Amino acid sequence: MILVTGGAGYIGSHANKELTRTGYETVVLDNMSYGHPDFLKWGVFEEVDLGDLESIRNVFRKYEIEAVMHFAAFTYVGESVEDPQKYYLNNLRNTLNLLQVMNEFEVRKLVFSSTCATYGNPQKIPLTEDHPQNPINPYGQGKLMVEKVLKDYSSAYGLRYVSLRYFNAAGADPEGEVGERHEPETHLIPLILDAAMGKREDIKIFGTDYPTTDGTCIRDYIHVTDLADAHIKALKYLEDGGESEVFNLGNGNGFSVREVIEEARKVTGKEIKATETERRPGDPPVLVGSSEKARKILKWQPKYDDLTKIISTAWEWHKKDA
Ligand SMILES: NC(=O)c1ccc[n+]([C@@H]2O[C@H](COP(=O)([O-])OP(=O)(O)OC[C@H]3O[C@@H](n4cnc5c(N)ncnc54)[C@H](O)[C@@H]3O)[C@@H](O)[C@H]2O)c1
Repeated sequence: MILVTGGAGYIGSHANKELTRTGYETVVLDNMSYGHPDFLKWGVFEEVDLGDLESIRNVFRKYEIEAVMHFAAFTYVGESVEDPQKYYLNNLRNTLNLLQVMNEFEVRKLVFSSTCATYGNPQKIPLTEDHPQNPINPYGQGKLMVEKVLKDYSSAYGLRYVSLRYFNAAGADPEGEVGERHEPETHLIPLILDAAMGKREDIKIFGTDYPTTDGTCIRDYIHVTDLADAHIKALKYLEDGGESEVFNLGNGNGFSVREVIEEARKVTGKEIKATETERRPGDPPVLVGSSEKARKILKWQPKYDDLTKIISTAWEWHKKDA
């Protein structure tokens, strides 16, 4: 069975669906701090906090775990600056707990949710996996620390892992069974869709004087179903004996904030009021990754690779989830 930590959350639930569809049996482990009961549609569920070593052990005793996909984490960059302890305890220490139990039960395959936030301010675009990693917030720092721990555990204990550095996850399951729901929401596309639904008055554009084509920040949006597919491919890579690796997962195509808003207006047919405001500190003008390595080694090919598909799946979900 495959253990999916954080499987009641946004990306983990999509991966859980994809795993089940591919024929894997899954155990979802989640403490429901940010998870959603209605996302628990596949596999069996264990309500466990990764802070509780003995409860993690019980899950490994109860099920024959062959590999782990580790999504569970706190994910708010701003909050990580205000309360770094919360982030290091959950994203670093609790990951050490999980790795400790994996070691005890001789489970040696792991797919880890890392992030483009481990790079910090880009020196060169598109970002490749060998770009220097200098995170500018505790969230990115904690994820980088885990990447380093994995490297050491891999040399010492024979753990084989794939760290996947996602860019901006977006979109929803095209069949509408799960989708994006963060509380509070900080991601651009669901916020724009909230404005389209009249749940918020407008969408704020933070900074219009960046050195980009239209002055707004450019980001790399990757569809959550493509992310889920990359996880299956990473798991198969490990099952086939692949060595520990790190891959970027992005579209390779950047879209500016204005372009995303414009596309959302087309998809939804709604006006969507945009309000221009000051830059936010710590936002690099452009964050776009190269996923050539994942395409080559994992044979991963994103299918929902244009903004229309990303926003329309998100919109379908958003209307249903209102
Ligand atoms: N959303 C993105 O754009 C993005 C980008 C890069 C990386 N990531 C990473 O992907 C992963 C999933 O992100 P998401 O957007 O699906 O977040 P999410 O908040 O929707 O899901 C995270 C899940 O982990 C669970 N969890 C947190 N701490 C736990 C603990 N101690 N024990 C058990 N369960 C716990 C939460 O309850 C939640 O269900 C995270 O590791 C995140 O850092 C996300």
